[in-house]
Amino acid sequence: MNFDEVYIQVKSLRDQIEVWDHAYYVLDDPLVSDAHYDRVFQQLRDLEQQHPHLVTKESPTQKVGGKAVDALLSVRHSVPMLSLDNIFSETQWFDFDRKLSDRLQNGQNQQTYVCEPKLDGLAMSLRYEHGVLVRAATRGDGTEGEDVTHTVRTVRNIPLRLRGVFPEWIEVRGEILMPLAAFARINEEAWLRGERQFANPRNAAAGSVRQLDPTVAARRGLKFFAYAVAEASTSLPRTHEQTLEWLADLGFARASWVKRVVGADEVAQHFAALAKARAQLPYEIDGMVVKLDDRIGQDILGYVARAPRWAIAWKFPAQEVQTRLIGIDWQVGRTGALTPVAHLEPVQVGGVTVRHATLHNLAEMQRLDVRPGDQVVLYRAGDVIPKIDRVLVEQRTGEVPAVVLPLTCPVCGAHVQRPEGEAVARCSGGLFCPAQRMEALLHFVSRKAMAIDGLGEKLIQQLFEKGLVHQPADLYRLNRDGLRQLERMGDKLASQLLLSIAQSKATTLPRLLLALGIRTVGESTAQALATHFRDLSALMHASLDDLLRVPDIGPVTAEYVAGFFAEDHNREIIEDLLRCGIHWTPVQDAVGWTGGSVVLTGTLEHMSRQQARDLLLRLGAKVSSSVSAKTFAVIAGHDPGSKRTEAERLGIPIWDEAQFLAFLAEKGLQP
Ligand code: IVH
Repeated sequence: MNFDEVYIQVKSLRDQIEVWDHAYYVLDDPLVSDAHYDRVFQQLRDLEQQHPHLVTKESPTQKVGGKAVDALLSVRHSVPMLSLDNIFSETQWFDFDRKLSDRLQNGQNQQTYVCEPKLDGLAMSLRYEHGVLVRAATRGDGTEGEDVTHTVRTVRNIPLRLRGVFPEWIEVRGEILMPLAAFARINEEAWLRGERQFANPRNAAAGSVRQLDPTVAARRGLKFFAYAVAEASTSLPRTHEQTLEWLADLGFARASWVKRVVGADEVAQHFAALAKARAQLPYEIDGMVVKLDDRIGQDILGYVARAPRWAIAWKFPAQEVQTRLIGIDWQVGRTGALTPVAHLEPVQVGGVTVRHATLHNLAEMQRLDVRPGDQVVLYRAGDVIPKIDRVLVEQRTGEVPAVVLPLTCPVCGAHVQRPEGEAVARCSGGLFCPAQRMEALLHFVSRKAMAIDGLGEKLIQQLFEKGLVHQPADLYRLNRDGLRQLERMGDKLASQLLLSIAQSKATTLPRLLLALGIRTVGESTAQALATHFRDLSALMHASLDDLLRVPDIGPVTAEYVAGFFAEDHNREIIEDLLRCGIHWTPVQDAVGWTGGSVVLTGTLEHMSRQQARDLLLRLGAKVSSSVSAKTFAVIAGHDPGSKRTEAERLGIPIWDEAQFLAFLAEKGLQP
């Protein structure tokens, strides 16, 4: 193909894909099969890759997200983004309608309105020039918002190019929201990664739009619904309904439950119907917006303060219900945290049956002072998980004792720990507790712990499911036949995995201590414990006082360590590991550098940084990351950084790699 032919081909593929995208994302009415779509999309992608100069920002391939921005810049809105006044009852609605009619004096005894759902997301202003999306901004304070073009471009149902006949420029207003299904998925993923969950879909949508990296936003399943035109180079339609039709023609999605109605009664009926339908909608709404349909009427009525006199937000009542608390269950999370969960008599809130409500943590439970048998008030305000708002203490009958933290884990029976000053109580059964074993095992095999390559979450999940692994030592009992039961596990992969499991048996004491996953015991604490106690059994028998004598170990860590080794299950797990052949070279202090530490800097040629560390640890050295007066020596490879300069300044011995190798050889070690 010559240049012109490629250009025409690229353009026609884009046009084709835009038509399909519009049908799929805006009209919810796919025109072609996914497979066919994927093929054509790949064709476009290939061509763009071969001819990068043809890539434009408007190409459908760019919806996956482009470059990240450094910061969100502020944008001044040419037409301010206003807000709406709220009403909460039918009486208020009829008042509004009467006042509006009085002001208008248009000789009609019934006004024509457009009712729309009040979408619970965030307001957006989209500017198109020559049909191309050039800027997207948040509402901000109404006068100035933030430029979020980079993330908004990735929203699937927002056209990057307008369809049909479009004005030279236009500013479209609408709401970006996160559908409930996407919200549930994103929170599930966050939970699996041990990250914070979003409180409600609105926060999730706002958080996604305000990301600096558009590829993150692209995966969040956001949607946009247009509800107004702020200004355009051509004159605007005569009614609001026609404006909505125009927006649809230009390629924008329109929310469901939008209806033109005549008279206040019909508005009230529509409100009741929408309130009923609310629970079935795929996204959150928090009321209904009623707008006068006639634009001339709108102009006559004008604005008061920051809200139009021709529109109103009729909010749904807060979704509050009362029910009885049956009891409190304790849920154990992946990191062992115990969360109190209210077990409730089933009740309907906003169309969903609720049986449980989160109490967040012990402190929240104590603040509410909920007791079994209590009448409680629940609410669901945009949040998917209902919350207990308050306890109706006056309705309490008889004396029921307050709920206390259980002494043992409801899942595995290990002791529950809550060191003083800590907000969260945790199960001490880390490696043993079924609720925590996924996290524990991932940590066990991680690079800085036992360093078993190739064992990720998916494989570990399967090992659990097939009953091949229950606790860490089971890894060392795996054989080829067992591994072959797993999906996509060929001979080659199985051999590699078995080899890396076998290799991990030769380890160091700090690595093993780290692998055990004792709370607050990270790399440097593990190192300090190993250097101080030198052997595992001394550490296992150490008292709290013994532990407090270890440099850099505070009371919380001491309590976690002592608690860990006091647990029978944990001791059995360690014994089992030793039986499976886990071993390490005893920590020696042949060199006499107790107290001082060794610092590594620059690149070593004959070993990795990690290997050098392990060798030093085996010799009883403490490896530290910064140079201080306490540093025993600095080992400097190629391109050493400021650490070398610092060592020179402090007059600390500096060894090059050759000196280090000679030193190791003297101690009978080599990389
Ligand atoms: S019209 C001049 N229509 O509600 C009126 N707003 O309280 C401009 N909202 O900031 C807004 N759904 O974020 C309009 N169908 C709808 C809406 C809607 C949700 C939000 C919007 C606005 C806020 C005002």
